[in-house]
Amino acid sequence: MEVKQIFVHGAGAMGSGIAQVAATSGYRVTCMDISNKALDLARQSIAGSTVKLLEKEILTSEQAARVEKINFVLTLETAREAQLVIEAVSENPDLKLNIFRELDLHTRPETILASNTSSISITQIASATGRPEKVIGMHFMNPVPLMRLVEVIRSPQTADQTTRTVVEVCQVLGKEPIEVNDAPGFVSNRILCPMINEAIYALQENVGTDEAIDAVMTLGMNHPLGPLALADLIGLDVVLSILRILQRDLDEHKYRPADLLVEKVNAGQLGRKTGRGFYEY
Ligand SMILES: NC(=O)c1ccc[n+]([C@@H]2O[C@H](COP(=O)([O-])OP(=O)(O)OC[C@H]3O[C@@H](n4cnc5c(N)ncnc54)[C@H](O)[C@@H]3O)[C@@H](O)[C@H]2O)c1
Repeated sequence: MEVKQIFVHGAGAMGSGIAQVAATSGYRVTCMDISNKALDLARQSIAGSTVKLLEKEILTSEQAARVEKINFVLTLETAREAQLVIEAVSENPDLKLNIFRELDLHTRPETILASNTSSISITQIASATGRPEKVIGMHFMNPVPLMRLVEVIRSPQTADQTTRTVVEVCQVLGKEPIEVNDAPGFVSNRILCPMINEAIYALQENVGTDEAIDAVMTLGMNHPLGPLALADLIGLDVVLSILRILQRDLDEHKYRPADLLVEKVNAGQLGRKTGRGFYEY
């Protein structure tokens, strides 16, 4: 099946980036959110990012102009036109399961339903649909227009053809798809989130300041961004949700979220998106 139209469900940090890259790569794109405010922010962020990529000559003016054709909507009605849906709503298992139940009803039976979840089991998400062989994980990285990896997550039921189609789409998007199997946190967040959590424990135990901890990892380990700055970029609520899922599904004390992370999320200090996390923006 050739993918021509992509429906992106959720227009936050990730959904807007996915919609932008899909549009500039030549797909027809619809981007949906339940919030008008989120759609306005998505429009602004896509326009701003596209101008920057154009100035840096990463995009041609013809590619950049395609983002103006993205259709922003508040309902699922047009999902029936898509061959591929990419879900990127908040990292909440109940919300995602409900959305996949609805998507199963509102899309054609042959449509592939992909989730950008950071940690929720693709097998569990697929069980909410009558087409588990067409459900797969497409885990993009943040910021989507700049990051090359897409972790492609297969459940035991995902059909080979579904994987092949999604890998081809990733290639058209200019990304590097890496196939992994379904497990809590997959590969990326199984490794990344415990490291970020450990950095937060080090901060709360006063082993170093936030700047010192990040500098050790950037200067000493050659990471482009320190773990605390990266947590602010990802969103502290997203990091907390992932750790809770790792802790629940792997039944491990080692994934217990640091108290300081929980406190910051409760205080609404979610990182860059709220102007304050470990740093101020
Ligand atoms: N932030 C990251 O660095 C990152 C990286 C990779 C994957 N992810 C994953 O991507 C997904 C989205 O994360 P994000 O950072 O973009 O979050 P976000 O908070 O920026 O955006 C979530 C969006 O979902 C919308 N939403 C909530 N309920 C909805 C519904 N019922 N229907 C439609 N839209 C709804 C919200 O209005 C919001 O715009 C999560 O699963 C997250 O784990 C995030």
